[in-house]
Amino acid sequence: MSKVFEYYRQLAGAFGPSGREDAVRERIGGIAGAFCDDITTDALGNLICRRRGAGKKVLAAAHMDSTGMVATHIDRKGFLRFAAVGGLFKGDLINIQVRFENGTRGVVSYEEKTPFKDVGIEHMFLDIGAGNREEAEKRVRIGDFAVFDAPSFEQDGVLCGPYLDNRIGCAALLLAMEQLPETVENDLYFVFTVQEEVGLRGAGAAAFGVLPDYAIAVDVTDTGDLPKHKYPMDCHMGGGAAVKVLDRSVICSPEVRDVLEASAKELGLHTQREILQVGGTDTAALQKTGAGIRAGALSIPTRYIHSPSEMCAVSDVEAAAAILARAMQAF
Ligand code: CO
Ligand code: ZN
Repeated sequence: MSKVFEYYRQLAGAFGPSGREDAVRERIGGIAGAFCDDITTDALGNLICRRRGAGKKVLAAAHMDSTGMVATHIDRKGFLRFAAVGGLFKGDLINIQVRFENGTRGVVSYEEKTPFKDVGIEHMFLDIGAGNREEAEKRVRIGDFAVFDAPSFEQDGVLCGPYLDNRIGCAALLLAMEQLPETVENDLYFVFTVQEEVGLRGAGAAAFGVLPDYAIAVDVTDTGDLPKHKYPMDCHMGGGAAVKVLDRSVICSPEVRDVLEASAKELGLHTQREILQVGGTDTAALQKTGAGIRAGALSIPTRYIHSPSEMCAVSDVEAAAAILARAMQAF
């Protein structure tokens, strides 16, 4: 088992939809303690791990939260209705298992009278096997959050499982922290942010607390390597870490992009350039903090993002960690 998979399994096993990141934060804090000088948690729940140095302030960020569901209604028969927390695709939801924070399990199904092409989340329900409303209410309250309960595997250098977005980015930050030398020149902040999936809500506050000179977000990105893909994208799984040029939320600082690419080159690592035509990342929130921060991003090419079976290459995660560790010291 690779170290990447080991960290991923530890972090993905923790319950952590947006706004409910406590369990993930606890696990990351438990690992990070050995590699940094101090750890703080801010009012929103962002975890800030610092390696002290006298030079430039450089911040790396990965979001801890995942997409999820929230219970909105329980009917007489004990079936639950739910709303999405973050972006969910209906095709990923049918007949999958979910779990609530208190361990209650259930399966998602839909009203069969609705033609499948017209099915939306409003036609879906969650079955926890309860006989009626009273029984269901003993297990779940309106406002309780749930996440996918899905298996994961590592096979021939590829990882698959739920919530690679973005526990794999968190794992990359931890792996980068481990690689730092005994003493560092720059003042380094490894920040694990909250509520990215619902609109980049945590990263800006975390960055404001630090006001770094440079910021780098680490997250997953789409790939263009699937059969008959919807749009061309020059980024493929196993092709190396991706250096973001832009996405829908941000145009990255060329200076940060250049430092990332130069660091990779010094390490003999191939990178890809990422242009993501849908979606955004914490990079946008970091960039707009305070009077503005030079920000860029390193991405892990990932297939089936936001599904219970996301897939990425171990080598891309290892490369991202190595590039991040070097780049943070290079500014
Ligand atoms: Co996401
Ligand atoms: Zn993400």
